[in-house]
Amino acid sequence: MKVAAFTGFGGPEDVTVREMNVPEPAEGEAVIDVHTCAINRHDLWILEGDSAMVSSEALPFVSGLDIAGAVADVGDGVESVSAGDHVVLCPNQTCGACRFCREGPENLCERFSLFHGGLAGHAVVDADRLLTLPDNVETTAAAAIPTAYMTALHMFRRAKVGPGDLVFIPGATGGVGVAATQLVDAVGARSIGTSTSAAKLDRLSEIGTDFTIETDDPETLRDAVTDIGAPDAVLNHLGGEYTEMGLDVLRRGGRMVICGRTAGRRSEIDVPQLFLDHKHVIGSTMGTQTDLQTLVQLLADGTLEPVIDDEYDLSDTDQAFADMQNRDIFGKLVVHP
Ligand SMILES: NC(=O)c1ccc[n+]([C@@H]2O[C@H](COP(=O)([O-])OP(=O)(O)OC[C@H]3O[C@@H](n4cnc5c(N)ncnc54)[C@H](OP(=O)(O)O)[C@@H]3O)[C@@H](O)[C@H]2O)c1
Ligand SMILES: [Zn+2]
Repeated sequence: MKVAAFTGFGGPEDVTVREMNVPEPAEGEAVIDVHTCAINRHDLWILEGDSAMVSSEALPFVSGLDIAGAVADVGDGVESVSAGDHVVLCPNQTCGACRFCREGPENLCERFSLFHGGLAGHAVVDADRLLTLPDNVETTAAAAIPTAYMTALHMFRRAKVGPGDLVFIPGATGGVGVAATQLVDAVGARSIGTSTSAAKLDRLSEIGTDFTIETDDPETLRDAVTDIGAPDAVLNHLGGEYTEMGLDVLRRGGRMVICGRTAGRRSEIDVPQLFLDHKHVIGSTMGTQTDLQTLVQLLADGTLEPVIDDEYDLSDTDQAFADMQNRDIFGKLVVHP
């Protein structure tokens, strides 16, 4: 089978398509014929050598968390899926033994990690992490949802977004941003979305963003959002300076949920503002397998249609990462191995 492996930690030029043996399933595992693997900024962090999860000893490394396809083979003891089933993988990997695995939510697992290996013709996975797809859910759409939509759904829930709320989503045009925008719109809340691209802002308006702002300058955003109104919630995947700016614009008692650090790992918070205005800062990572099941159901009943910007052959995986790096992306990019 062919895989798109990272052979160095530079950038898209370090993606190399090479041959590997099709894996065999061990007990409890299944081998998936990967139809689609969506990519995330998480994969790009790894490719750029900016992820604590993967060291140089792991090179060549096959990344890719979000896969959907057909079950090709199952190991001993697997009864939940069988050969030919169309499935999507929940990429969460948990220990199954800690208090959070026992009591939930599973994404708080003390040894939480993620599946990698989806940018390949076949992938071997834990069969318990597979969800069977309803007949009307295509594997391409299914592959788009695990990381971005599951993360956005979990953030959305932790922010307690409800009908009529005003939600600020800085950098709303990528995987998590578009997913959050769609979920906010679906519940009858209003959103403020931002981008450096006027063309992407037009697309945001088409999927339900109520207020768009064309800039990525936190100072300009602080004023523009304040002019619109104080958000009830900020869904922040950018981190960095967007954290203090998000806190500044948030209404009294409002919630900011943070899942990422695209714009920086550090932020300066005005502590008195936090306690005097009763604001909440909430960290959030991924979601639960139940969240993914909910999203699959939303796809099946037509409530949610993931936004897929571009589809690539495995041999063009380097181009997919270059497009992500160049911010030439709206929603999700998917690769077909
Ligand atoms: N904790 C978790 O479980 C979890 C899960 C998923 C994602 N994440 C994190 O969330 C973030 C987003 O992931 P993603 O896959 O959605 O990424 P993505 O698709 O690449 O996000 C693109 C968006 O980010 C904006 N952007 C890119 N670089 C920027 C910069 N330097 N300053 C300001 N805005 C910038 C883009 O704005 P333009 O429109 O102007 O180009 C666009 O709106 C990443 O940090 C990722 O690691 C975390
Ligand atoms: Zn655990």
